[in-house]
Amino acid sequence: MRKKIVAGNWKMNKTLAEGVQLINEVKELLAKQTPKQSPAELGVVFGTPFITLATAAELVKDNAYLSVAAQNCYTKESGAYTGETAVGMIKAVGVSNVIIGHSERREYFNESNQMLAEKVDIILKNGLTPIFCCGERLETRNEGKHFDWIKQQIEESLFHLSAEEFGKVVIAYEPIWAIGTGVTASTEQAQEVHAFIRSILVAKYGAKVADDTTILYGGSCNAANAKELFACADVDGGLIGGASLKAQDFVTIITSF
Ligand code: PGA
Repeated sequence: MRKKIVAGNWKMNKTLAEGVQLINEVKELLAKQTPKQSPAELGVVFGTPFITLATAAELVKDNAYLSVAAQNCYTKESGAYTGETAVGMIKAVGVSNVIIGHSERREYFNESNQMLAEKVDIILKNGLTPIFCCGERLETRNEGKHFDWIKQQIEESLFHLSAEEFGKVVIAYEPIWAIGTGVTASTEQAQEVHAFIRSILVAKYGAKVADDTTILYGGSCNAANAKELFACADVDGGLIGGASLKAQDFVTIITSF
């Protein structure tokens, strides 16, 4: 059965000291509110700013549920790319996931589906897990074109992968209109798109791969609505922005399954 994941995306929030405090608080709360699932069945990810990654990786080492994600990486192994960070460097400090294709990166940093295909490749080459974000704008949904849009994002960034490679990818569906807005997709809207994503995976890679793929929901998912979202058949957890910055909220979400 596919793994459930609750991943926090801190975005550009928390200093190193604040991040350490948050991770320690989450660990303390998790020790008291242990999830029903085993660490093989449920993963908890901290998507921290780069400056916090190495320390965060040290802090999570002693807890089998926990791992760390970078929020971006570059497409090259090393070299003259001022300001960028290579996947090998991320891996070397003990980080095992990289979030890519977040709508904020697509919008503010011009990340294209083609560039994300290169990022997926280099992440997999280094043996890390890509958490690949996709999702539509409100206008696209209102025009009824959101399924085509999401399909194209997935096809252009992921469908060059072999079935074996694809088996290492986590997908996060994040409708842009729900991110940071307080407007969550309804359970019907989330389930409908998640089921659609799984159907295109069945068509491309077959039922087994599709069935094993973790598909997260993101966009104003919080302690109050996580339970009903996670109860949807094809929603395997969440990518959590704002609510991942508060330890108790994040742990409530983690224990919502
Ligand atoms: P939000 O962000 O939970 O604050 O809406 C989610 C995300 O952007 O990953």
